[in-house]
Amino acid sequence: MESTKITAETIRSMKSGGEKIVALTAYDFPMARLLDEAGIPLLLVGDSLGMVVLGYSDATHVTMEEMEHHVRAVARAKPRALVAADLPFGSYATVESALINARRLIMAGAEAVKAEGGRAILDQVRAIVAAGIPFIGHLGMLPQHVIEEGGYHIKGKKELEHRALLADADALVGVGAFAIVLELVTAPVARQMTGRVQVPTIGIGSGPDCDGQILVTPDLLGMLPWRPLQHVKAMLNAAEQMRFAVELWKQGVEARGGPRTQDEEEVKPIRVHVRVPVRIPEWLPVSIRVRRKVIPKTGCRPVG
Ligand code: KIV
Repeated sequence: MESTKITAETIRSMKSGGEKIVALTAYDFPMARLLDEAGIPLLLVGDSLGMVVLGYSDATHVTMEEMEHHVRAVARAKPRALVAADLPFGSYATVESALINARRLIMAGAEAVKAEGGRAILDQVRAIVAAGIPFIGHLGMLPQHVIEEGGYHIKGKKELEHRALLADADALVGVGAFAIVLELVTAPVARQMTGRVQVPTIGIGSGPDCDGQILVTPDLLGMLPWRPLQHVKAMLNAAEQMRFAVELWKQGVEARGGPRTQDEEEVKPIRVHVRVPVRIPEWLPVSIRVRRKVIPKTGCRPVG
C-alpha cells in the first residue's frame, strides 16, 4: 500500500486529477486504524460524534473538550489519511475564538478543521487559513443549525437558497478553503457547484456528481438501528452481528461457564453459517457486487 502521508494539498489535487475522494468519519483509535488500512484518504472527526458516540440528541451539545479527546484518539492511529476535525457549535462565533479553537484541534492532532457556513463566517475562515490551518467548508444542511431550522431539510430547492449556496461556495474558495462538504444539497445544485468551484466538493446526501462522498461511518455499517437514515443505506448490519455474538457468548457462559480447554477456545468459522446481512447497493458496479456477494461466515460457533 502507498505510504505517502496525505495532506490537504493531496486532497485538493485529487479534483484536478479526476480522482474521487472517499471520506468517512472516525472518532477513535480502532476506527481510524481500520479505515486507514482500508485506504480511506480523508478521516473526519465530525461533531456527529455527539449523536453517534456520545448519545446527544443533536450536534449542538458537543464541546471543544470532547472534540479534542476524540481527535487525540484518532491521531494516535497515525493514519496515512488526512485527519480533519469539526469546530463544534459555538466555538467559532468570533474571529478570536475561531483561531484559538482551530489551534486547539491542531494541537490535539488534527491536520485540518471544518466549520459550517459560508459568508457568515468568512472573517473566521480567513483568519484560520492565514494562521496556516487547512480549512474545509460545510454548506447545505448545517447540523449545528438544526434547532433553528427545525430539522434536517434538503437545501437548494428554492431559487434564493440556490443562489446563496453558490455565493457561499465562491466566498469560501475566495478565502482559501481547500474543500467543501455539501450536505443534503439537491443533486442538480451540487453538480453545478462542483463544476463551478476549483476545490473539491465532498457530498453527503447530495447526489453522485460531487468530487467525493463522505458518510458517518456507523451509518454505513449499520451500527445504530435506532438512528433514522434518509441519505444512506447501511451496507452491513453491525448492530445485529454484535447482538448475535454477544447473545451466543452469554448463553455459552450461562450454560458451561466458559471454555475448558484450549481446543474448546478455538473458533471454527463454519460451524454456524449465519447469513450476515451484507447489503450490496444497486449503484455499485456489477463487478463489485458479484465479487462481494460471497457472504462472509461469522466466527461464532454453536454453544451447548
Ligand atoms: O459531523 C459530521 O460527521 C459531518 C459529516 C456529516 C460531513 O460533518
